[in-house]
Amino acid sequence: MARTESRHVCRECGHEALAWTGRCPGCGEWNTLVEEARPSRTSSSGRRRGGAPRASAPRPVPLREVSAPAVARLETGIGELDRVLGGGIVPGSLILLGGSPGIGKSTVGGMALGNLAAAGRRTLYVSGEESAAQVRLRAERLGEQALAVPMLAETTLGAVLAALEAERPEVCVIDSVQTLHADDASGAPGSVGQVREAAAALMEVGKRIGSAVIVVGHVTKEGSLAGPRALEHLVDCVLMFEGERERSYRTLRALKNRFGATSEVAVFEMRSGGLTEVSDPSARFVGEATAAPGSCVLCAMEGTRPLLVEVQALVAPTEIVPPRRIATGIDRNRLSLVLAVLARHGGIGLASADVFVNVAGGVRVEEPGADLAVALALASAHRGEALRNGAGPRACFGEIGLTGELRHVAHPERRVAEALKFGLGSVIAPPTSEPIEGLDPHPGLGQALRAAFPPAKVRKAA
Ligand code: TYD
Ligand code: MG
Repeated sequence: MARTESRHVCRECGHEALAWTGRCPGCGEWNTLVEEARPSRTSSSGRRRGGAPRASAPRPVPLREVSAPAVARLETGIGELDRVLGGGIVPGSLILLGGSPGIGKSTVGGMALGNLAAAGRRTLYVSGEESAAQVRLRAERLGEQALAVPMLAETTLGAVLAALEAERPEVCVIDSVQTLHADDASGAPGSVGQVREAAAALMEVGKRIGSAVIVVGHVTKEGSLAGPRALEHLVDCVLMFEGERERSYRTLRALKNRFGATSEVAVFEMRSGGLTEVSDPSARFVGEATAAPGSCVLCAMEGTRPLLVEVQALVAPTEIVPPRRIATGIDRNRLSLVLAVLARHGGIGLASADVFVNVAGGVRVEEPGADLAVALALASAHRGEALRNGAGPRACFGEIGLTGELRHVAHPERRVAEALKFGLGSVIAPPTSEPIEGLDPHPGLGQALRAAFPPAKVRKAA
């Protein structure tokens, strides 16, 4: 029987199927399977699939006999980046740096290589997106050391691999993996087949010559380019740049890290001279918090680090049906839930009002612990009354349940400690098993609202 000459590959997760289906069996996404020609049995990197068993079987070794010399990490000189990486770049590792266009991937790559070059490391910057002149213009903004980085404008995979072998850089940035194309792999540059072929070949060469390779990958909202998700299983570390292009704050987090924790988050600010680290983001965000009606400070956790952010809400009467619900920085579904619970258990119905909720500074908060801050900011906006604690803003955290109860969230003590550091004691929060100094526990949303606004006024409003 003749072999099928094509296969269907999911653009999202890289699942391979022989026949096309509307829904990917791997990740469950719809309409993501695309047809690609089957690769030849030996690919460019010479990997064999299957084949006859060898005459001599390899001998497994007990793990304790495996030699694992401690490797010195290569510090990028960007403290926050090194922290997210788990202490610096591991030699020979493959790092995927993902993010939407314009977020700052090329900038952080150029800065890291500049610092490494200044520290005497061999580096290489391969640009497939921008011309050498464009890269130079960026480097000029980043400073003298960034201009010392050797660069190559190239999109052919074979040429890039040859340059790697010849130059043997200790750290190399490939900007971006979607622009590379291998002559013998199927599909246009950026297709799953091409991207995977390129990443696998880069990994093979990088590991062999001990080069750490940082591959830049774009993620588009539509996922029309082969999402770097297809590479996640292959690479050692996945760093994701988040934030909005129009705002100056950007967060960098590790989604996967074979050499460190995945919960760390770095906060950067885009300035005229490149990205600057915001080493104490809480101070920034609290300093900028307004303590005006509609504002509430949230004690959030970003990985293992507590982070104080300002949640702002605006409630405006409207004739529009259904009224608008605009959420920036928080999940829209959580906003709907908070609005429903506020109406049912907090006595605050906003059915005839447009509602806008925003986490100031362009930060995204991905945890249910933000619910209470959203609720209190909305209540404060609705009443036109500031949530204050003395002269300063009031802080809170906690998940809101469907029955109006406040639910426990992780690390209450670290959140309160961060708030106390900035003089925001008396943090409204769910009850804890042991009392925590500076925490003002309440079992439900109703009690939290009464604590947030003086009782006399609650009665007047009711
Ligand atoms: P860039 O790193 O090119 O983004 P990406 O590679 O992720 O597509 O830069 C993103 C934006 O940052 C760009 O619009 C210009 C801006 N920028 C600054 O504001 N200051 C700077 O010093 C640099 C280098 C860029
Ligand atoms: Mg770029």
